[in-house]
Amino acid sequence: MMIKAPGSDRRFSFITALGIVFSAAVFWLAIAPIWGQTKVNQAQAANSETFHWNKPAWAPTPPVPADNPMSDAKVALGRFLFYDTRLSIDNTISCGSCHQQARAFTDGQPLHRGVNGLPGKRNAMTLTNVAYLPSYTWANPQIKSLERQMLLPLFGDHPLEMGMAGHETELFARLSSDQDYPRRFAAAFPEDGGRIDLHNIARAIAAFERTLLSFDSPYDRYKHGDPNAISPAAKRGEALFFGERLECYHCHSGINFTDNYVQQGLAFPETGFHNTGLYNEDGMGAYKSWDHGLRDVTSNDEDEGAFRTPTLRNIAVTGPYMHDGSLSTLESVIGQHYAVKGHAALSSNGPNPLRSDFIEGFSISDAETEDLVEFLDSLTDQQFLTNLAFSDPASDSREKRGAR
Ligand code: HEC
Ligand code: HEC
Repeated sequence: MMIKAPGSDRRFSFITALGIVFSAAVFWLAIAPIWGQTKVNQAQAANSETFHWNKPAWAPTPPVPADNPMSDAKVALGRFLFYDTRLSIDNTISCGSCHQQARAFTDGQPLHRGVNGLPGKRNAMTLTNVAYLPSYTWANPQIKSLERQMLLPLFGDHPLEMGMAGHETELFARLSSDQDYPRRFAAAFPEDGGRIDLHNIARAIAAFERTLLSFDSPYDRYKHGDPNAISPAAKRGEALFFGERLECYHCHSGINFTDNYVQQGLAFPETGFHNTGLYNEDGMGAYKSWDHGLRDVTSNDEDEGAFRTPTLRNIAVTGPYMHDGSLSTLESVIGQHYAVKGHAALSSNGPNPLRSDFIEGFSISDAETEDLVEFLDSLTDQQFLTNLAFSDPASDSREKRGAR
């Protein structure tokens, strides 16, 4: 399925992608006549172009699934559901518990605890610009939509997060007895009478997540017209980031600083999963026994320790870092990880032999590290962290007055 690009970098090959698209097209032709919704869905897909996205003109239009067109009513409903603790079995946790706006929708902890108090195994991810991702979570190329991703925290038991498996009926009853949800679902899903079910819950939250767009950092303003939007130190850091000594940009590329990318109308999404040499438990490249990254999904030995390249937008506020939150500061990510050929190099087992060819190690002075951190800081979008449209509606007084 995958070709082996240099080192342990793996991308789906163009030929594979072509094959997939071709078989998808054949499949579609076969089922189109019995798929009554075809025309409707195609018309709705165009809605991605007409929906008013809160983004500058230069930013590409996010893709939207044909069966979940954007609407203001749906996004508004999704925002309420995202912050609603009734979505967890003991009414204690909402999506917003682990994905907090002030931290660019992360939680500041290495591993967040779910409803039973047991720690999870991974670091909560930022939701910055998730609309442009071809797959979701740290290392699963098979989870291709936001609608599908959220079933993991809601119903997953490994780790247990919101604990709703087997309690779907109770969830629908909780929401149906609310004074506002029935009318909100009716406004969001007029086509099926505002049914309160899993399909619509997932579609509303996903629509809200697609609006979480961040393109107003000082670095964006610098790149799009204001030469003084970032400091001289940040400009020196930018040169380091995009230079061949540090090689950061090979993986943290494009508008979201990740090689995982899709936009409206793009036929072949970009996907990049890499082993950066964080661990080397057995001297042969093994990661921790409870998390092998991409290999846990593909069962391919070459995928040991490979994780999806995360975005670096808002990175200054999303620590601690890496898939398990094991590095606490940006300085440690630079000095204790990338500069030394991956953090494992500091252990007695030495550098991970399966790591990407781009993780070569480099020497960097303290002043240069400061410059690089200053550049990474310039990717923080204050407007995104404070925009009321993304905030918990419970703290929104206008909304409260409206509901009364
Ligand atoms: C207990 C903490 C917790 C809760 C509650 C939670 N998440 Fe997450 N979220 C995480 C963690 C941890 C990950 C990374 C999971 C992984 O890689 O396996 C994640 C990943 C994600 C991602 C993937 C982002 C990306 O870049 O691929 C999305 C989207 C997401 N969560 C949305 C949600 C939504 C929507 C809800 C509510 C239905 C929710 N989360 C509830 C902790 C949580
Ligand atoms: C070979 C591809 C690759 C290169 C080169 C690379 N990164 Fe990464 N980066 C990744 C991947 C993959 C992860 C997640 C790894 C993990 O969690 O195990 C990551 C994680 C990070 C994180 C933590 C993100 C978070 O949300 O926790 C930061 C910060 C970061 N990289 C910055 C850099 C900088 C600065 C450079 C250059 C010195 C660099 N990266 C070079 C692929 C790369």
